[in-house]
Amino acid sequence: MKFKRPRGTNDLFGDRMSIWQQAESELTGLIRNYGYSEIRTPIFEMTDLFVRAVGEGSDIVTKEMYTFEDKKGRSLTLRPENTAPVMRAFLENSLHRTGGIKRFYYLGPMFRYDRPQAGRYRQFHQIGVEAIGSEDPSIDAEIIDVSLSMYKLFRYPRLDVRLNSVGCPKCLPSFKEVLKGELEGLKEELCGNCQDRAMINPLRIFDCKSCDDVKHKLPVITDHLCGECRDHFGKLQEILDGMKIDYSLDPLLVRGLDYYTKTAFEILHPELGAQNALCGGGRYDGLADDCGGGFVPAIGFSAGMERLIETLPEEYMSNLAAAAKVAYFAILDDSMIAEIMLIAREMRLEGVSAVIDLSGRNIKKQMRAASDGSFKYAVIVGPEEIGRQEATVKDLQSGEQESISLDKLQSYLVEGAKE
Ligand code: HAM
Repeated sequence: MKFKRPRGTNDLFGDRMSIWQQAESELTGLIRNYGYSEIRTPIFEMTDLFVRAVGEGSDIVTKEMYTFEDKKGRSLTLRPENTAPVMRAFLENSLHRTGGIKRFYYLGPMFRYDRPQAGRYRQFHQIGVEAIGSEDPSIDAEIIDVSLSMYKLFRYPRLDVRLNSVGCPKCLPSFKEVLKGELEGLKEELCGNCQDRAMINPLRIFDCKSCDDVKHKLPVITDHLCGECRDHFGKLQEILDGMKIDYSLDPLLVRGLDYYTKTAFEILHPELGAQNALCGGGRYDGLADDCGGGFVPAIGFSAGMERLIETLPEEYMSNLAAAAKVAYFAILDDSMIAEIMLIAREMRLEGVSAVIDLSGRNIKKQMRAASDGSFKYAVIVGPEEIGRQEATVKDLQSGEQESISLDKLQSYLVEGAKE
């Protein structure tokens, strides 16, 4: 084979694909129950959107973007995340006009040129939720609740919810100055990367896995919050406590994207190793203004689909295996193939799955395919059956067989699918 998939990407098919589809459909159903509706934005955007939103000093912008020029020399980037595109779409389509809170969700591929390892890919998928238009801490609580419900849906054991406040334009700049002052004296102890970025955005040091020792010597943002941020953080915690949501405060949690203000949170999985964040998010009240859209408060999170699928509890996986397909047609005489194809088509239109073996292989092989564990019935169409205008329907669980006339076959299988 001359070609291989690009490093850090995956091919999805077969059982794994079925698990993805089922998980996606259950997750989006749950999120819609909270009143969120889907938004689809382009896979690529103007590069500047991400530079402005995610931040010039962030790893994503400095190292990880898939950026290219189009034929007119415009710089475009495959989306490394989807919060900035959603805000861009919100502003561009004047979705603020009707007022109130706009609740959106999305699901799709994101692209980051990072070193691939377990749980980290160059093309990965996020399911994300954004609530735009309210400053109230109750919507922060709703967002955290949505994120946790996603894992409750799949009966995850207790997960580690980390919560912090990263301040706002009133308190964050002065905290950064304090931090820069402290870092002057600790520069020698920083890794090369952090030495370079310490003065661009000193908060990034809290994200660095190589600078753990320095992190613990630094002042923390929660000791430097302004009154408004402190109030917001306090109220959020009251609501979460009232909802009996367990979380721990983590003053070192700053998140890798520059747009965050006030609330920041992550959900960690104890068994995921180095890439242990199942999902992360926070408030980004300044992003709309950075995009030229004035003040629009907002909060959201995104969850990595690969990390979710890789950690799905056993119990859920076995439930999935039970989700059966209905009919597998084994064709040993194709003289009435057009009629069979029509019956199968009408079944599918009634919401029942039907697969016709069109390979022409022998009965043994066709029946082996029918008995892969996912079908309820094998429908055998051989010369004898055709002669009688019938098909033999075999219940693959009980092994019982019945002859059904072709004109009743569709309703027999559709009824059987309901049992
Ligand atoms: P993020 O923390 O960069 O946030 O990504 C969110 C989640 O996406 C991570 O917790 C992880 O599960 C998954 N993820 C990130 N990078 C990779 C990768 N290379 N391979 C596999 N999974 C990955 C954001 O993207 C923000 N837009 C979240 C947000 C929404 N904030 C507000 N609204």
